[in-house]
Amino acid sequence: MRQHTTFRQLEIFEAIARLGSFTRASEELFLTQPTVSMQMKKLAETVGVPLIEQVGKKIRLTPDGQQLAQATREIFDIMDHYTMSVAERQGLKQGRLSLMAITTASYFAPRLLGEFAKLYPGIDVSLRVTNKEQVLASIADNLDDLYFLGQPPEDIDVVATPIMDNPIVVLAAPDHPLARKKKIPLQRIAQEPWLMREKGSGTRNAIERCFAEKDITLRPRLELGSNEALKQAILAGLGISALSRHTLTLNQPGQFAVLDVEGFPILRHWYAVYPAGRQLSVVARAFLEYLLGRGEAALAAAGKRKG
Ligand code: PGA
Repeated sequence: MRQHTTFRQLEIFEAIARLGSFTRASEELFLTQPTVSMQMKKLAETVGVPLIEQVGKKIRLTPDGQQLAQATREIFDIMDHYTMSVAERQGLKQGRLSLMAITTASYFAPRLLGEFAKLYPGIDVSLRVTNKEQVLASIADNLDDLYFLGQPPEDIDVVATPIMDNPIVVLAAPDHPLARKKKIPLQRIAQEPWLMREKGSGTRNAIERCFAEKDITLRPRLELGSNEALKQAILAGLGISALSRHTLTLNQPGQFAVLDVEGFPILRHWYAVYPAGRQLSVVARAFLEYLLGRGEAALAAAGKRKG
């Protein structure tokens, strides 16, 4: 009966080819030397040509042996890939994903996470929404898998991937006198009563930078610690403000006037960030890939609509 080459024989042969020694191959594979020799003899018989030859005290591969060594490496590479992909799929059946998002990211992060969790129901997800200071502290402590930020930290070594646009638009009540004006100059808009987020907010920093570039200082009439409070104040006619367009996600179109102001929208991005030294888990990597692919599409409608 014709013999077949077994996977075990190829494994032994690969070790001998790599290590150049029967003894070291048998040690690496926890086999006795006679077993190794016998398996190599059978392999050569099956193939029908000598694969290994003895030169003095050393061994070397014959040309046929070298070809088999190459084929064996390719087979093992394919098997490694296969095993890894099975492990990845297994990894996505269960596991944890822990995220942290800066305040304004709460308008999109739960939705993305929700859609991902539906795809992989076995994964436990957690999302904390908090202010910039706490997000930065957690990044420094390497506590969570991924962080959503409007600007990557400058003094911590991170990997930051832009995942979607974050345009900052000027919002007013729909009956505001400037609602129908075109190309309102920054100087003019600065004279309006401004409602601003708290100090340290990424949105506020972006607005202040935009005005500072034209040497204009904004003097907020009112400071409020949340986007929703700001929106209420705008509708109450207390003034105008500039917010991420994502904050309008749940509002009816037309509920706010988006003013046509020179220099606006300020074009920013949302970033998914993790500490440079962190090895992302299978789940976290899958989520990041999901964000780069389907996330943008899922949110495009919300991101592009007008007030
Ligand atoms: P924030 O948003 O204003 O809630 O801090 C983050 C950012 O846009 O950087």
